[in-house]
Amino acid sequence: MSNSIKLAILGLGTVGTGVINLINDNLNELKRRSGRDIIITEVGTRRQRDDIDADIMQNSDLMAIAASDNVDIVIEVIGGTTLAKDVIMQAIKNGKHVVTANKALLAEHGNEIFAFAEENNVHVAYEAAVAGGIPIIKVMREALAANKIDWLAGIINGTGNFIMTEMRDKGRPFADVLSEAQELGYAEADPTFDVEGIDAAHKLALLASIAFGIPLQFDKVYCEGITGITLQDVNYAEELGYRIKHLGFAVRRDSENNGDAGVELRVHPTLIPQDALLANVNGVKNAVLVNSHPLGQTLYCGDGAGAGATASAVMADVMDLVRVLGSKDRDDQSNTGHHVPHLAFIPEQLSDTPILRADQMVTGYYLRVHAYDSPGVLADITRILSDAGINIDAILQKPAHKVGQVPVIILTLPVIESQMNLAIEKIEKLETITDKVVRIRLDELA
Ligand code: HSE
Repeated sequence: MSNSIKLAILGLGTVGTGVINLINDNLNELKRRSGRDIIITEVGTRRQRDDIDADIMQNSDLMAIAASDNVDIVIEVIGGTTLAKDVIMQAIKNGKHVVTANKALLAEHGNEIFAFAEENNVHVAYEAAVAGGIPIIKVMREALAANKIDWLAGIINGTGNFIMTEMRDKGRPFADVLSEAQELGYAEADPTFDVEGIDAAHKLALLASIAFGIPLQFDKVYCEGITGITLQDVNYAEELGYRIKHLGFAVRRDSENNGDAGVELRVHPTLIPQDALLANVNGVKNAVLVNSHPLGQTLYCGDGAGAGATASAVMADVMDLVRVLGSKDRDDQSNTGHHVPHLAFIPEQLSDTPILRADQMVTGYYLRVHAYDSPGVLADITRILSDAGINIDAILQKPAHKVGQVPVIILTLPVIESQMNLAIEKIEKLETITDKVVRIRLDELA
């Protein structure tokens, strides 16, 4: 075998340890596929670890590792957006390729990081940042490179999907399932990132940029988490033939659609038909459904979190880079020009298509309205909806659960959110309405 490729792993948490295990388990396969020896020369860790091979240098100075002559590829798996950013910029400045699983960092600072990488003729690879082990970045940047992507919808947070699945199937309490997800290494260091949808919004920002050729715009992603979802709504949804999933949507809206032209970037709990493919993706599994022209719909599914799944994605990136470095050795110059662009489109061609505000977005709705059980209540509600041009798709009135009060469940066809806001405001002003209206978006795209 020709000379070795030297890796540094920064961070020995769930993912870093998973990468070491993968290399130990599959070294022979890695060598046979790349034609190179792949060795870990340095690891970045706060404390000395006695379970690390003695040949590997342990160092708590990550900036030094990122500049070390004994490293070709820096694998950043420390997470966070401060030290991780400094370390990655340092690695790039020193001509090292970088592999990272850090979706928060890329969603927030990716435009700057990718530009710096291009200036320095190195690549920042990030397959592990989105949907764990599913090779969705590679698929969208390479396999779908000839398609126009119209929309994508995905379950892109394993912890959230695990929680929703366990709650629905086993009636387990939220906090209990979340602790298990943390123990299994699925959850973020701050698990509110999972349950409030922030982690999914980071990933959606990355997917949308690749899909539509737009700069990263995490700050414009509309984001709702799963903490407000009740078993009551899960059950009503099931009764009406729907399932509630926490989904991310990136949708290109043309001017001929209902509403304004632009891109919708949204993460929220969503009612989708029970027989929809995404409705049946359970546990820690992630799935991304991509609608592209001329290919049509394709679905990518697999484990979205955990040591093995994430290490698989990290090492797929390493293998790509090893192949690039292989040709570098042959002609003694960087071969990164042969790499796909970071965001799939060449940087000069990124477009300024506007990201739509929440009140411009178009979705169906599930509404739960609590009303006094008196004549005309239903008529008042439906009149408000029809005056706003909102088309009712289904309606379910349950018997009074409290004395004199009834829950009314209404499903609507797609409507511009601003219209729905006005209608809900009017419904809440009716004297017969007892509580705030509960609303959950409904989408038939997925
Ligand atoms: N906390 C993330 C999840 C890990 O649950 O999906 C993978 O990004």
